[in-house]
Amino acid sequence: MSRRLILCMLLVCSTSVLFHSTCGGQNPSLSMVSFDQGFNPLYGEDNVIPYDDNNSVQISMDERTSSGFHSKLMYSNGYFQTSLKLPENYTAGVVVTFYACNSQKYPFHRDEIDFEFLGHIHGQKWLLQTNFYGNGSTNRGREERYDLWFDPSEDFHNYGILWTQNRITYYVDHVPIRHVKRVDSMGGDFPSKEMSLYGTIWNGSNWATGGGRHKLDLTYGPFVAKYSGFVLSGCPFNHDTQTITISGCNNSNLDDLTREETAELHIFRRKWITYSYCYDFKRYAVPLPECVFNSDEFRHLQHFDPWTFGSGK
Ligand SMILES: *[C@@H]1O[C@H](CO)[C@@H](O)[C@H](O)[C@H]1NC(C)=O
Ligand SMILES: *[C@@H]1O[C@H](CO)[C@@H](O)[C@H](O)[C@H]1NC(C)=O
Ligand SMILES: *[C@@H]1O[C@H](CO)[C@@H](O)[C@H](O)[C@H]1NC(C)=O
Ligand SMILES: *[C@@H]1O[C@H](CO)[C@@H](O)[C@H](O)[C@H]1NC(C)=O
Ligand SMILES: *[C@@H]1O[C@H](CO)[C@@H](O)[C@H](O)[C@H]1NC(C)=O
Repeated sequence: MSRRLILCMLLVCSTSVLFHSTCGGQNPSLSMVSFDQGFNPLYGEDNVIPYDDNNSVQISMDERTSSGFHSKLMYSNGYFQTSLKLPENYTAGVVVTFYACNSQKYPFHRDEIDFEFLGHIHGQKWLLQTNFYGNGSTNRGREERYDLWFDPSEDFHNYGILWTQNRITYYVDHVPIRHVKRVDSMGGDFPSKEMSLYGTIWNGSNWATGGGRHKLDLTYGPFVAKYSGFVLSGCPFNHDTQTITISGCNNSNLDDLTREETAELHIFRRKWITYSYCYDFKRYAVPLPECVFNSDEFRHLQHFDPWTFGSGK
């Protein structure tokens, strides 16, 4: 059996059952790849340091450079995960990411699916942001931000993206925190072309922490992010034929959360969400088409940030 077919079968397993049971007798951890199997350094090579027999990598930002890595292959749909430990101490202006993107291949029509951590000042916590773009829809940001139920700089935690032709689900420690169902009226805004996976650390001083109020302070560096436990269960894109070759990669049957996941999603969101474009009516007077109004989320956001989310819809 080809490696591609195995990867695609693992993708089929990467649905609801992935996290709560085994799939076909296989433990999902079998689909992990080492850093050097799956990735190459992208920039700041001196600060991209594999460890743990190349299973893991640390990337850092210091006076000299920021750094990042990217996957060797591009993937059309899949489940992608890393286990990540963030830099400690004061990290204002430091952005740490794990994301899928194709801006190198499609500079004007890129697709992107992001996890981005936005740094913090003393006494505060890292905020997590998720976002996505499709076919160059960069003038329609779809950001959400969340507080987390743990300190992501204390230990490793799992961050996963499940992307099919009809859904994007973001997972933190296997809890779904955001679920986007494609609707036809999104048009090209739903990511549809093959993407690479990236991990990066960089200076986001002008926007990241407190909307740019708190800047990078290198005296707290070097800032080190550690990545491990890589899962690249996607359908590899064949550059010669410009197609995905495996019919088994058709995953349109994977489009819904289980009832248990739906419950977890709602519990997470009505407690930890701090920003969502779906409720920011100053920004989008008419919510973008995939938005589904949830009164618990809206009440939580209004309470958390009355300035942005007003009072009463
Ligand atoms: C890690 O990967 C590099 C590059 O592929 C290789 O040169 C090195 O021998 C590997 N180290 C281990 C311990 O596998
Ligand atoms: C993406 O945009 C290009 C150029 O505008 C267009 O030709 C193409 O059909 C679009 N693709 C999708 C999936 O909407
Ligand atoms: C970080 O970025 C900000 C804003 O772009 C810039 O003013 C600052 O010089 C940068 N800091 C370093 C150390 O590169
Ligand atoms: C945080 O950074 C400051 C300044 O570099 C240092 O003095 C302090 O020991 C650090 N605290 C921790 C917990 O690492
Ligand atoms: C995937 O399969 C579904 C039904 O199982 C079918 O309707 C759809 O056209 C297929 N998509 C592709 C790209 O083959």
